[in-house]
Amino acid sequence: MQAQDPRPLVAGNWKMNGLLSSLEEVDKLAAGIANGARPACDVMLCPPAPLLLAMRERIGEAAIAVGAQDCHMQDSGAHTGDVSAALIADLGCTAVIVGHSERRTDHGETDAMVLAKALSAHRAELTAIVCVGETEAERDAGKALEIVGHQVASSVPDGVTAANLVVAYEPVWAIGTGRTPTAEEIGEVHSFIRRQLMDRFSDGEQFRLLYGGSVKPANAAELMAVSNVDGALVGGASLKAEDFLGILAAYR
Ligand code: PGA
Repeated sequence: MQAQDPRPLVAGNWKMNGLLSSLEEVDKLAAGIANGARPACDVMLCPPAPLLLAMRERIGEAAIAVGAQDCHMQDSGAHTGDVSAALIADLGCTAVIVGHSERRTDHGETDAMVLAKALSAHRAELTAIVCVGETEAERDAGKALEIVGHQVASSVPDGVTAANLVVAYEPVWAIGTGRTPTAEEIGEVHSFIRRQLMDRFSDGEQFRLLYGGSVKPANAAELMAVSNVDGALVGGASLKAEDFLGILAAYR
């Protein structure tokens, strides 16, 4: 594949999966990247917070970035069980996912909270990966663009740049279901988000727009070829190095 601009990012979101022993998969991933042709994309893994440091250390010099799955809105304080962006950065991580639909659903996170988390990430000099996406009912009602447009407008802070903000379009109904939108449907949403970012930011053309939701080795090449898709946010298929390498192969 031709070198793409912006440089794509394929990030694996382990969600609430993985134990210390799962770091074996990181060794396999690093070996796969070193042995095969290195993919023409950035590679990232986002494990559960207690694994961040061990994963960072295990990766060593391999070209795999580590990101967190969430951070608190505030820099520090009395918030039992939460993790600050400052600590995530201190552990050697470079990014944090904010506003994943599972957090919006499980923890009632609103667009305003997601925006505050993105700002918190930026204060710690982390890249914020802001997730947006419609539910099945919203798509069926013909409201996908309206919902996604509203989420982007209200979850992406002012003053961000392509260097510190990534948008991940993840239709809720495609996450973990094995179902994906058609290439046309993804292209429609991504070009809509692109226009919105270009209207708002001078470097809007350079923001990386990831697609997420049932990305697998078998469909990665087709999905990643859609215009304005600059990589993927991968859940289930990021847990095994073999599957994740199969997705990275879309960028060889
Ligand atoms: P999935 O999850 O790849 O398992 O569908 C994607 C995500 O939620 O980021």
